[in-house]
Amino acid sequence: MIEKNFDIPFISNLALHEKQIQQNYRPIIAVHKWFARRPGTLFRGLLLSEFVEGSLKENFYKAHNLKGLNIADPFMGGGTPLIEANRLGCNIIGYDINPMSYWIVRQEIERLDLEAYRKAADELQDSLTREVGSFYKTVCLKCGSPNAHVKYFIWVKTLVCNECKGTFDLLPGYLLAMNRRHPKNVIFCSKCGELNEVEDHKNPGICQACGKALTIKGPAKRNRCACPYCGKINKYPDALNGPPQHRMVAIEYHCHECKSNHQGRFFKKPDREDLLKYEKASEQWKSLSPKFVPDDEIPPGDETDRLHRWGYRRYREMFNERQLLGLELSCRIISGFPDDRVRNALATNLSDLLRYQNMLCRYDTMALKSLDIFSVHGFPVGLVQCESNLLGIPNGSRGTNVGSGGWSNIVLKYVRAKEYCEKPYEIKHQSGRKVQVAIKGEWIGESKGTIDGTESRGVNLYCCSSTFSNLPTASLDAVLTDPPYYANVQYAELMDFCYTWLRRLATDSNGVFNKSSTRDENELTGNITMDRGLSHFTEGLSQVFVKMARALKPGAPLAFTYHHNKIEAYLPVAVAILDSGLTCSASLPCPGEMGASIHINGTGSSVIDTIFVCRLTGTVPRRTIVSTSEEIAGLVRHDLELIRAGKVKPTRGDIRCIAFGHLVRLAIWYLRKEWDIALSASDKMVRVERAIDNLGGWSGVENHLSDELLKVPCYQMPLAREMQENYGGEEDEISF
Ligand SMILES: C[S@@+](CC[C@H](N)C(=O)[O-])C[C@H]1O[C@@H](n2cnc3c(N)ncnc32)[C@H](O)[C@@H]1O
Ligand SMILES: [Zn+2]
Ligand SMILES: [Zn+2]
Ligand SMILES: [Zn+2]
Repeated sequence: MIEKNFDIPFISNLALHEKQIQQNYRPIIAVHKWFARRPGTLFRGLLLSEFVEGSLKENFYKAHNLKGLNIADPFMGGGTPLIEANRLGCNIIGYDINPMSYWIVRQEIERLDLEAYRKAADELQDSLTREVGSFYKTVCLKCGSPNAHVKYFIWVKTLVCNECKGTFDLLPGYLLAMNRRHPKNVIFCSKCGELNEVEDHKNPGICQACGKALTIKGPAKRNRCACPYCGKINKYPDALNGPPQHRMVAIEYHCHECKSNHQGRFFKKPDREDLLKYEKASEQWKSLSPKFVPDDEIPPGDETDRLHRWGYRRYREMFNERQLLGLELSCRIISGFPDDRVRNALATNLSDLLRYQNMLCRYDTMALKSLDIFSVHGFPVGLVQCESNLLGIPNGSRGTNVGSGGWSNIVLKYVRAKEYCEKPYEIKHQSGRKVQVAIKGEWIGESKGTIDGTESRGVNLYCCSSTFSNLPTASLDAVLTDPPYYANVQYAELMDFCYTWLRRLATDSNGVFNKSSTRDENELTGNITMDRGLSHFTEGLSQVFVKMARALKPGAPLAFTYHHNKIEAYLPVAVAILDSGLTCSASLPCPGEMGASIHINGTGSSVIDTIFVCRLTGTVPRRTIVSTSEEIAGLVRHDLELIRAGKVKPTRGDIRCIAFGHLVRLAIWYLRKEWDIALSASDKMVRVERAIDNLGGWSGVENHLSDELLKVPCYQMPLAREMQENYGGEEDEISF
């Protein structure tokens, strides 16, 4: 039973580490980007604590076979819960309304002849090298070799002055690279564009090339920039001028010859050759009649409107001509491979590669790498953009790459992902070291040849709204999921960026690529453009929970992760649980989001998810059924202790999320007896809100958490903890 066996410190610690370097713990995620993937370790923890007796800590590193169990996920996304269940031998049933999600989970699970894939990937890369390889070479400033590999081309947006018609750069600043990963700061000269390496960016001195004083601050600020020729203040973006134009201003490259005796990175101002190469690539692109580059318009949307404001009307305008050339040629080569699985694997790679091969990628001046288009959950348009080498730069025989965002990166990751399916492993932390523990006997896939013949597992994936699901009554052993969080991520608007390409290249017998967009009126996210509000979300979520609850065997769990900074976002969840007749038997804290990820960093958001465990019948620990703010604060304190034992350092936002979990769980507990399913969604939400208020709400709980606790966003300071109150015996339970 999850409620008893789930080991919060152990799983929190693992999940925390996993979220920091997810590809090391679950290489399968490299099959394709999906947003907000939960840690796989968390769902393995849930499955094992529910279905395997004994210590979770010990079971975790052993192979298990839960053959015959049926596990469903109505919102499969990137497939995390299902992959964990499949790996443990369960039959899986997954739904997602987004064709990209369906496709990604299929690709994750589908068996692939890795040798054939490798061979095709090599052929693809060889052909591309022949056709466009020279466009990614540059002259090394140090040794003069013309064969240095470009890692990144840095481009800046330009504007035509609406007064004097002069073209100028929209530079927000002149600092290209900070002295973290590189010995010095690299600064552009505002006059001649030369790159200067300086010790102190606060006193940058003068340009080595032209003598002009160097500065850090650029002229472009808050959507305004003065024209350097006539002084006129121009506003940007200006959609009427069409998609933004760019000028290449810097190159970061890699010279295999010089690397061993060179400190830091290699930067240069583009020379004539570099600019000519781009011209040549453009000409080559213009001479093609594209067969695969999509011509689709970008529909209006909550996220895509920003693209419109910048003058982007079609997806293809988000790429430069060298990128379009390389991508079109890639598609042509891929489409020629006869093996369906290999071709579809490479098509999936191309779709994922798009993230790095577009002109919305930014250059991280601190980490000195490309930030892909989805590094935040939106389409932020920057002023300085980063074009990665399409081919990638393999680093000799070491099986690594220099830089990111090219074919060699994607192929290497894919091979690792598929190898992991054959031979999954876990990472164990032993006296400060990380050890890979092979879990011999487990595998991810639909079938596998064994000594006794072929072993198969049910894999049923549906690309449709789970509000339309129709599972037999009492057929499921568990539902494990990660529902959408109202307005957090506009999955469809973002994924269309990949989908418009993928649907032209990949082949699927189920017709998932028939629609021109992944948008769907039944998607359960708030969306202003599509007029979907909180009631739509609540009703939809409720329908899904009702269906899932009906399909659960008596006493089987529906467990899901959830987190939000606002209590309002929890109301639909509570309504859905109550409508389905489920009771929430536990709310458990566990890290779910990546602390270091850009969209969380510095926003004070929470990294802790609440795992809500719900059942139709069962027992709850009596100590968790409380009714006052003070008691809830006590439960929060207890949870904090557990996650701290797992070395998680909760922030204030995390503490609030943990409290929300308990408030919602208890509101459900007290409302369930008199719940009226016939009320409107908004009335139901009001009831839940009132119940939460009756429990004192967050403000009530907050009052009982000491000042220290609230002030300390992180860790170092010791917490003044009151003695735990005695709520009754730890083992005491209440039936429901
Ligand atoms: C938070 S994500 C799941 C992430 C996933 N657990 C993972 O770790 O990768 C929620 C998913 O719900 C899907 N979704 C939204 N509305 C849906 C609906 N009506 N039916 C099925 N899926 C839906 C979205 O497309 C999205 O993939
Ligand atoms: Zn060199
Ligand atoms: Zn001007
Ligand atoms: Zn200069």
